[in-house]
Amino acid sequence: MSDPTAPTSRPYPAWLEDAVFYEIYPQTFYDANGDGIGDLPGISAKLDYLQSLGVDALWLNPCFVSPFEDAGYDVSDYYQVAPRYGTNADLEALFAEARGRGIRVFLDLVPGHTSWQHPWFKASARHERNEYSDWFIWTDRVWAPAEGMRAITGLSERDGGFIINFFACQPALNYGFANPEPGHPWQQPVDAPGPRAVRQAMKDVMRFWLDRGAAGFRVDMAGSLVKQDPGRRETARLWREMRAWLDAEYPDAVLIAEWGKPSESLPAGFHMDFLLHFAQAGYTSLFRKGGDDGQWDGRYGWSFFDRSGHGNIREFLDEYLRDYATAQGRGLICIPSGNHDMGQRLAEGRETADLLCAWVFLLTMPGVPFIYYGDEIGMRTVHGLPSKEGGYQRTGARTPMQWDNALPNAGFSTAAADALYLPIHPDAARPTVADQINDRGSLLNRVRSLIALRKAHPALAASAEFRPLYAEAGKLPFVYERRTHDGSERILVALNPSAAAVTADVPGEPGPLAETLYGADAAITAHDRGWQVHLPAVSAAIYRVA
Ligand code: NOJ
Ligand code: CA
Repeated sequence: MSDPTAPTSRPYPAWLEDAVFYEIYPQTFYDANGDGIGDLPGISAKLDYLQSLGVDALWLNPCFVSPFEDAGYDVSDYYQVAPRYGTNADLEALFAEARGRGIRVFLDLVPGHTSWQHPWFKASARHERNEYSDWFIWTDRVWAPAEGMRAITGLSERDGGFIINFFACQPALNYGFANPEPGHPWQQPVDAPGPRAVRQAMKDVMRFWLDRGAAGFRVDMAGSLVKQDPGRRETARLWREMRAWLDAEYPDAVLIAEWGKPSESLPAGFHMDFLLHFAQAGYTSLFRKGGDDGQWDGRYGWSFFDRSGHGNIREFLDEYLRDYATAQGRGLICIPSGNHDMGQRLAEGRETADLLCAWVFLLTMPGVPFIYYGDEIGMRTVHGLPSKEGGYQRTGARTPMQWDNALPNAGFSTAAADALYLPIHPDAARPTVADQINDRGSLLNRVRSLIALRKAHPALAASAEFRPLYAEAGKLPFVYERRTHDGSERILVALNPSAAAVTADVPGEPGPLAETLYGADAAITAHDRGWQVHLPAVSAAIYRVA
């Protein structure tokens, strides 16, 4: 039977076809008022930079009132900007100023849990029944088992434990259970009054920010709202309802899932889903096989983008091709350079040449690339920091953006160094925007050129076809073709992350070469069954073929 709430046939707005996103951790991007922590006016002040980089959209990590026990993923008021970042008016000004430059701003929606300081939760924790009693998931006695979930007990006058999604400070909002267990009335069905009210409350939050100029949301832990939901079927139904509502009232709004399973999230109504380090081993195999403790000596295996040449592209590709197939006609896959949850920045253990090879990949794949702030200049992780705001191993990849070494605190803030949210990377030779911006060969300018290249070529658009041409287990190079659906433009991308030069016969639909778009050192010759490609050590090439 057809689902009346199924997404419309148009899977996403046209602007996403050549869009590049940029993730900003507001705490550490730019501090405009000198109090040591980044803020919204600081983001507005850097819009020139973001525009010149060529990005189309910003994703801001949560910037709402919060006790910040998980960096703001513990919201205590969904309707107010946290004072440390500014005011609601500052956020509206950012929406408008960014939009004036063709940049859309996405907020981070955390629908799965609130902070335990949220008034909804405090009311729900009271002994007397009240409007919020069923907004969170409470077992019916403190001694009752939580049935495979994590419950916190002993902190409330209410007799029961509350289910948490992540840290103890993050009680799960009640979207109900797909299969409530008989004899456990505290496991409510998805259409019980509490879960229906919570759904409505999240719609109200979305409406509030869309009305003020937000372009859409990155949705935190989008796949885990309904509990005990095999195959996430009820969670998907919930999001289809949300999407049908958005399509009717806010047809331009875009939803990005933190789900890590496009085969579930896109049919559930999301326009896009991420590859995630904890969801897709294939994604991790590209850049981060060193593990979170930064052991890059092969003890956990080798990343594909590694000079040893020991990596294996099939670890990524076999998984990706499955996700790619399920995304066709439904939505887009986002490949991030990193994010605020990956403690190892892209530049860990890599020099500029290695990073260029990685960026050629990131900016020529299908879907929508996401740049984690600072990755475009090769910022590195700061090791050994104590945890900040629940960051733990993630903390070292959340340090201040490096703008200019001629200024105090690398230009991030005028506050005293010991008053900064997190310290600046201690290396005096740390990369900065100022050093790279006027150097034509810098990483920053190469990334900028690659973004421009992506936009200039329809064969590199989000939905243009992707065909691996040479992708052998344990061998190099990795060569793929992108092409428009009508074949009017074809582009070959060849990658050799290893320290040894490589030559390969690449099968493909032959055609004389037209143009080298990137990588003048590589050599390619056409023959009647494809091409012979020669790539020097640690290099990449992009060709337009005719
Ligand atoms: C995913 C977010 O990206 C992460 O930073 C956060 O800690 C958890 N969800 C919990 O909200
Ligand atoms: Ca500030």
